Amino acid sequence: MSTSFAGKRVVVGVTGSIAAFKVAGWVSTLTKEEALVDVVMTEAATKFVAPMTFAALSGRPVFEDMFTTEQQGGISHIGLSREADCIIIAPATAQTIARLAYGMADDLLSTTVLAARIPVIICPAMNVQMYEHPATTRNLKTLLSLGYQVIEPDSGVMACGEEGSGRLPEWEQVAEFVLREICTKDLGGQKVLVTAGPTREPYDPVRFISNRSSGKMGYALARTAFRRGAEVTLISGPATQPVPGGVHFVSVTTAVEMYKAVMDHFQDKSIIVKAAAVSDFRCAKQFDQKIKKDSSSLIMELEQNPDILKELGELCDHDRQLLIGFAAESSNIKEEGRKKLIGKKLDLIAVNDISSAGAGFEVDNNQVTLIDSAGEAQLLHTSKLKTADLIWDHVIANKMLKPAGSKSP
Ligand code: CTP
Repeated sequence: MSTSFAGKRVVVGVTGSIAAFKVAGWVSTLTKEEALVDVVMTEAATKFVAPMTFAALSGRPVFEDMFTTEQQGGISHIGLSREADCIIIAPATAQTIARLAYGMADDLLSTTVLAARIPVIICPAMNVQMYEHPATTRNLKTLLSLGYQVIEPDSGVMACGEEGSGRLPEWEQVAEFVLREICTKDLGGQKVLVTAGPTREPYDPVRFISNRSSGKMGYALARTAFRRGAEVTLISGPATQPVPGGVHFVSVTTAVEMYKAVMDHFQDKSIIVKAAAVSDFRCAKQFDQKIKKDSSSLIMELEQNPDILKELGELCDHDRQLLIGFAAESSNIKEEGRKKLIGKKLDLIAVNDISSAGAGFEVDNNQVTLIDSAGEAQLLHTSKLKTADLIWDHVIANKMLKPAGSKSP
């Protein structure tokens, strides 16, 4: 199963707020990701951004008026909601939120929403006082009780100069919630713990030992698990990736910090994936002051960090918890992978072939072989996001989910 927008049909309802200009970028991204985007604008929205902007970005006519459907291929409010996979209302003004809460149906957007039996995702954006007004709070609660998804706005300085909650979030955050709404929730009920990124082992106040891990693979596993319905905790070292929307994020720096965080979080999880590139060694001594280049050479003693995965192999309840490890190998992929599978008591290991051209550290692609007690499966050489989906597909197809995590429809 793919957790992307390709081939999905999305209705984007734009209402009258200054944040409407940001949604032009969302429509452009969705279209580039091969979604079919129908933009519906309220009259107030057209005062902020010209319909032509959305038409050019989506490559499709923009819907404004309930009574002129001819130039829009005869598609009505009923047709719009029937053919779409979801409706995103962004920015959603206090006025639109109130009207939807009361089930009003006096323009194309409100009638489309009322006629819809598909996920509706509402992204409020307004002045902080308006957002925090009890009337808006009550209306948002009503929308939640009606089954709509409401995305919490960001905090910060607003267009009006005031500071607080009410800013439209970035698309990257919102996209995760939208994908979760439109993807099959085949990891529903699962509690997933993912570790990702490198660790840093400092030896003076400005320097550290680390590795080239970007965190992309682990973050992709966390994102796709969330999109497929899981509750996700991501423990990450200093990665180059933005924190994915919807996941519980725990930031760590050193291997020892990661060890402590994993020990604090693994017990109630049904799936544990250790994709982090943990430094095997740390510096035996940390200098309080920056080391000067007084001498021509420097000998540093290193001591071993805990092998977090090995310890998890011992501590996990394998009847209840699925333990997945990663390995980065440059030769004898299968033999080395199998050695780690057995040695660390894993249920599954994903072995990264870092000798494969264009795959491995820092790049977007991976070449992964999955190994378990039943055999081996070589995945396609593809993006880390698709690789993550393929790993979940493998887990589900091979019935590896443990009974503790029940599947929701
Ligand atoms: N790992 C870990 N703690 C460590 C080292 C590794 O939890 N101190 C985990 C990684 O997150 C990964 C797996 O062990 O899931 C394998 O990591 P890798 O670096 O490939 O192997 P190592 O066990 O460190 O063995 P070596 O470097 O000798 O190949």
